[in-house]
Amino acid sequence: MRTHHCSELRESHIGETVTLIGWVKSARDHGGVIFIDLRDREGITQCVFHPEENPEVAKLSHTLRDEDVVQVTGKVSKRLEGTLNDKIPTGAIEISATVLNIVNKADVLPFQLDKELSNEDLRMKYRFLDLRRERVSRNIRQRAVITSAARRYLDETGFYEVETPILSNPTPEGARDFLVPSRLNPGRFYALPQAPQQYKQLMMVAGIEKYYQIARCFRDEDLRADRQPEFTQIDLEASFVDQEDIISTVEGLLGRMFSAGLGIEIPAKFERMTHADAMDIYGSDKPDTRYDMKITDLGDTFADTEFKIFRGILDKGGVVRAINAKGFAKLTTGQMNKLNETAIQAGLPVKTLAFIKCENGEFKSPLWKFFTEQEKDALVSQMHIEEGDIVFFGAGDRETVSTILGRVRVECAGMMELTKDNKDFNFLWVVDFPLLAQDEETGEWCAVHHPFTRPHADDMDKLEAGDYANVRAQAYDVVLNGYELGGGSIRIHEKDLQAKMFEVLGVGPEEQQVKFGHLLDAFRFGAPPHGGLALGLDRIAMLVCGEDSIREVIAFPKNNKGADLMAQSPCEIGPKELREVYVASTWKDPKLAKEKASAEQAPSEG
Ligand code: AMO
Repeated sequence: MRTHHCSELRESHIGETVTLIGWVKSARDHGGVIFIDLRDREGITQCVFHPEENPEVAKLSHTLRDEDVVQVTGKVSKRLEGTLNDKIPTGAIEISATVLNIVNKADVLPFQLDKELSNEDLRMKYRFLDLRRERVSRNIRQRAVITSAARRYLDETGFYEVETPILSNPTPEGARDFLVPSRLNPGRFYALPQAPQQYKQLMMVAGIEKYYQIARCFRDEDLRADRQPEFTQIDLEASFVDQEDIISTVEGLLGRMFSAGLGIEIPAKFERMTHADAMDIYGSDKPDTRYDMKITDLGDTFADTEFKIFRGILDKGGVVRAINAKGFAKLTTGQMNKLNETAIQAGLPVKTLAFIKCENGEFKSPLWKFFTEQEKDALVSQMHIEEGDIVFFGAGDRETVSTILGRVRVECAGMMELTKDNKDFNFLWVVDFPLLAQDEETGEWCAVHHPFTRPHADDMDKLEAGDYANVRAQAYDVVLNGYELGGGSIRIHEKDLQAKMFEVLGVGPEEQQVKFGHLLDAFRFGAPPHGGLALGLDRIAMLVCGEDSIREVIAFPKNNKGADLMAQSPCEIGPKELREVYVASTWKDPKLAKEKASAEQAPSEG
């Protein structure tokens, strides 16, 4: 239907007769002469309809409206002096149209495609139009480019692409499962995979040695800007490898993707940080290292303090720590309230964050008067407090203080726009994660990564001795600018160790057989040592495209209530269909119906 695409023609084509097809991006009438910008996936070409040369065609061109699909044939001509457009590659030429074929008319659009639209619901309802916009369409293209680069890299390095089932059993990755009733097995359900974790391990037992998959994963969890209920992983696993092998494979893989997507070289080796340091220094297991504002421990400064609150906490083995938001003393009351809110959500037991600010040479703080001169001097020097700074304190148990100051740090950085024009990509490996964490309420131990993660070789005796809090895992996360891009581990490949791990996690022998019998069974027949990792493709695409939500790089994303407003999913299923799959719906139960009604009234994101 065309001889060229809309970003192809240059001055060298002048004089040629060409045919283009695409959408009318805009039509303008200049004294009876119609100009249109014709758009296809690749770009824009200006077409002109001269009444004196082709009166019939020019007359027809007056009927054109935005987004009509048209096919135009004509001669490539040089644009008149003064009408050149150096913003587009075809800006030196135009098509003098001799044939106009209106292929399909478009109705008036629900929104203009060349303006930013803040109504997220409207964008999503008409996502097929939204996707025509330059920014979103560029994102989709860039995602395709990096996905294809990833495939090429993994193919070249000996990984086989293998698909794993979507209808499967529950997988323990920390979220709720989406369930699918089985018509052929009344009363039984499949779960959609949260990740292909067990299948990829079974492939290692099967001798595949190097596997990857661009794998769709499903997790029923609270949604955020970097979380969707269905998302895509670049999932990989290899046999006869250690942590260093996986790390270098992933460094190479990300290098290839960023080079394809942005034409930049990222470091061949990424920085590394232990999980303990990441928590102590940045208060996060996915620290954004593009700015400092590090957490400083003030244990020495206040070692002899008589300030009651700090004294009590330090005596109980707690910590006193602080961050300095440099030059942010003039924050607004609204910003201060927001920071307090963030801190409370992160576990601050009181209503306001303790702070000290330095303004006009004075230190202002509700705490200042409780400190001795020596403590004041030490604090100012340790925190490098200067005019215009504000220092936020955290005091309590180590973990809570880290979480609070970590979140406040990120929130402050946002308010201070510390990364606004920053184009750095700070890749980081966070290593030596703890293997287990204890649930505060129940006291139960749970896996920090997942139950298949291998304990650190040096900490096996701690696992035996029941010193669970101090067992490190052979697990690693790759982090970029405050986002967890991916996570993985070396796995347990011995039946007894795997059974021991389940036992620590409170999964008894019977339950182990029911839920993980296949894996334990497989480990009886010569399972090779193996390990792997999964990268969040949506998050990588988001960062490559400079977006701050993964919705911008997913063709048909869900909103924060897990709904697709265009396809109107999820939808209600009638009694007949439910009967067919042996499912009784309970939502008409008065209590549930009330919950459903209030859920429907809740405002959606954006
Ligand atoms: P994990 O649960 O850390 O590991 O997931 C790997 C990566 O997937 C991305 N991710 C998500 N992206 C968008 N929306 C979500 N809801 C979402 N959840 C996770 C993140 C994350 O780093 N089986 C293990 C991997 C392994 O051990 O090999 C796993 O799934 O970028």
